[in-house]
Amino acid sequence: MSDPRTVYLADYQPFPFLLPQVRLEFTLGPKATRVRARLEFMPNPARPGRHDLFLHGENLRLISAKVNGTSVHSELSDIGITISANDLSGDPFTLETEVEISPAANTALEGLYMSNGMYCTQCEAEGFRKITYYPDRPDVMARFHVRVAADLPVLLSNGNPVGSGPGWAEWDDPWPKPAYLFALVAGDLVAHADSFTTLSGRKVDLNIWVRPGDENRCAWGMEALKASMSWDERVYGREYDLDIFNIVAVDDFNMGAMENKGLNIFNSKAVLASPDTATDDDFARVEAIIAHEYFHNWTGNRITCRDWFQLCLKEGLTVYRDQQFSGDMRSHAVKRIEDVLALRARQFREDQGPLAHAVRPDSFVEINNFYTATVYEKGAEVIGMLRRLVGDEAYAQALDLYFTRHDGHAATIEDWLKVFEDTTDRDLTQFKRWYTEAGTPRLKVYEAWSPAAQGGTYTLTLAQENPATPGQPEKGAKVIPVAVGLLNPNGDEVVPTTVLELIKPVQSFAFEGLAARPIASILRDFSAPVVLDREVPAAERAFLLAHDTDPFNRWEAGRSLAKEVLARMITQGTKPQAAFLDGMAAIAFDEGLDPAFRALALRLPGEDDMAATLHQSGHTPDPARIHIARKALARAVAERLAPGLPGLEAAMRVPGAFSPQAADAGKRALRLAALAGLTRLNGGAAAQAAFADATNMTESFGTLAILLEAGLGERELAAFEAKWRTDRLVMDKWFAVQVSLSAPEETAQTVGRLTARPDFDMKNPNRFRAVLGALTGNHAGFHHASGSGYRLLADWLIRLDPLNPQTAARMSTAFETWPRYDADRQGMIRAELARILAAPGLSRDLSEMAGRMLH
Ligand code: PHE
Ligand code: ZN
Repeated sequence: MSDPRTVYLADYQPFPFLLPQVRLEFTLGPKATRVRARLEFMPNPARPGRHDLFLHGENLRLISAKVNGTSVHSELSDIGITISANDLSGDPFTLETEVEISPAANTALEGLYMSNGMYCTQCEAEGFRKITYYPDRPDVMARFHVRVAADLPVLLSNGNPVGSGPGWAEWDDPWPKPAYLFALVAGDLVAHADSFTTLSGRKVDLNIWVRPGDENRCAWGMEALKASMSWDERVYGREYDLDIFNIVAVDDFNMGAMENKGLNIFNSKAVLASPDTATDDDFARVEAIIAHEYFHNWTGNRITCRDWFQLCLKEGLTVYRDQQFSGDMRSHAVKRIEDVLALRARQFREDQGPLAHAVRPDSFVEINNFYTATVYEKGAEVIGMLRRLVGDEAYAQALDLYFTRHDGHAATIEDWLKVFEDTTDRDLTQFKRWYTEAGTPRLKVYEAWSPAAQGGTYTLTLAQENPATPGQPEKGAKVIPVAVGLLNPNGDEVVPTTVLELIKPVQSFAFEGLAARPIASILRDFSAPVVLDREVPAAERAFLLAHDTDPFNRWEAGRSLAKEVLARMITQGTKPQAAFLDGMAAIAFDEGLDPAFRALALRLPGEDDMAATLHQSGHTPDPARIHIARKALARAVAERLAPGLPGLEAAMRVPGAFSPQAADAGKRALRLAALAGLTRLNGGAAAQAAFADATNMTESFGTLAILLEAGLGERELAAFEAKWRTDRLVMDKWFAVQVSLSAPEETAQTVGRLTARPDFDMKNPNRFRAVLGALTGNHAGFHHASGSGYRLLADWLIRLDPLNPQTAARMSTAFETWPRYDADRQGMIRAELARILAAPGLSRDLSEMAGRMLH
């Protein structure tokens, strides 16, 4: 790709100046906000010589620029200003600028913008340049002092409050930070307040700021925040470092949330939760995102990234940490299964298509396009592998060294790997390929058994293949930790979990002294993000489903079986095998198992997942057939479970006050699975009764979805709307569920009907995603043979792009799977991508994505 706007890792150079101190003054107005900046620069010893001063700046109206108090000429361009080295004198020297910006006109939600009358900012990755002229790069770390003036009750910025009066407030952040962590909020907000005392006795004020009326949706977020703070002290020895920690909920936000120093800003969907408005999944997501943003205070803020190519340094590690946290708060097994499901659904799909890129990419056009499942989720998997290889103790030591060595600095992946090399004496050169090479490795397994009187030998031969990805035709062998356990035929574990280190293309591992040929449980706990290519007899899978001591692999055995059964139903029109159905029944009614685990095991593979699976095994997936077969399998499972379903439904009712904790949530999930089965068999009566009696959103939304999936539920849909019509977050669910569950031939029409409503506001990313995101998630509807799904999405992306390029580009990834499908669909998708590319004035964001997908 030779886009002239491409940025390369190899071109990195330190910034020629250091910037110890920044003072900003904001005089807020919706149409005109004044920003005065005072920047104190010094020469950077890392870049000797005389240098011009280049500062980024976009859509700013420059009013004045002075160096050491004297007006200077600045060379203006669309991307910033340059002040000639001749005009820079003194060490240090001071640059003062004044600019005007218009937050009300900012629909891209990057920089300073307005949401429901409230001012707020989003600066990661490169939004600060839309606020003032500045070296907007993460390796420039400065102390910020901020004054905000506006006739509004709440005025917030980073750090500690140092003064306020009517219409103004000042904040000082003692910790040097890059501009992407800057934040400002001003509005008519109310706080849910609490406090936390850190390990060393510092009392920290905690606030969750929301619009009046949302106060009763903050308690869970606050619990999660306090739990995160104490977890990070306990597990990583990391304490909070300011007197105050503020969280703000905002309705218009492109992503989930943002870790601005001391002032996290959240999409309201990712922080607000109450039993009547949020489902159990929402509660779990809020807990995880609160933790994620809080954990960034050390992994991201105290230690930040040298440049945006190192994004995984903070994101991979912080995702890894939030996953550990959620596992500790809930169930490790269930959390691991959910994380792997998400990894396969989003990251594998990305890694195996035209948008594949390395965890640490080495070039980009628009950095916003690299906040991906690969950087985040595969980035976390890579850390999990590293930990498996070095062990828990060495991992802890390496992290301590990381925190002491790099605190206050902007670091790289090389720095990160070096702390592991220094604590373990391991050479991680080969391991580093996980960061630099894209693609999902495929692992083949060959088994050999040689019996002998004094104990036989079982030999496992593992072979890895590293498929080509765009721009990377050749790859080296990876270091792959393969966790293996061996069971004997009566189900006892004869070799407990052992981590095999596969470093060559092909390698054998022998286990000696075994009394009988063992059954191998391979890739336990999903020890590496690879595709396991292994033909296993159905009987062996059923054995592992019944006996594996590793809960992940126990679930995985059922999953693989389900995929095989479903694949045969789709391609050969067979009936589901009894062995599979019996296995499902055994899990569903096993009272010794966690209900959450049982509910997960009963969930059938999704249609997109099946399309990927069929494609990988050399078939061209037919979305309509997949849809029909999956429905048939769901019905067959329900029939097999039928006698026990009413009892299961009754047993899983949770009496008493609602608790969002995992135990109750698991029961609710299993009860809904039972209700779904009953609805398939007997129609909507049971689900309708449960909807009518629901006392929380999990039950009312869950039963509504069950009814809609069965083609019922019109009355419930109307009742739900009548009850929630003024609640934005709940109505997002109402919009989404109709699209996700509409029949393939009606999906486009449903989208058309919903987007015509006055409460469909395309400027609100949550609402846009609720409808168009749900379209792309409805596999058979989106891929309908008429091409109507493709057309509709392209139309809306072209419409959204001028307003919000970041969200438009992100949603365009729905097209990344085109190579899987038949020639007609491929042609239609490529034509839509070409139509997008040809749209006049297309953003850099969307043009990069469409271009990469077309090749
Ligand atoms: N850094 C944020 C997170 O991962 C994500 C984000 C990126 C938010 C860019 C906004 C813009 O927590
Ligand atoms: Zn993050």
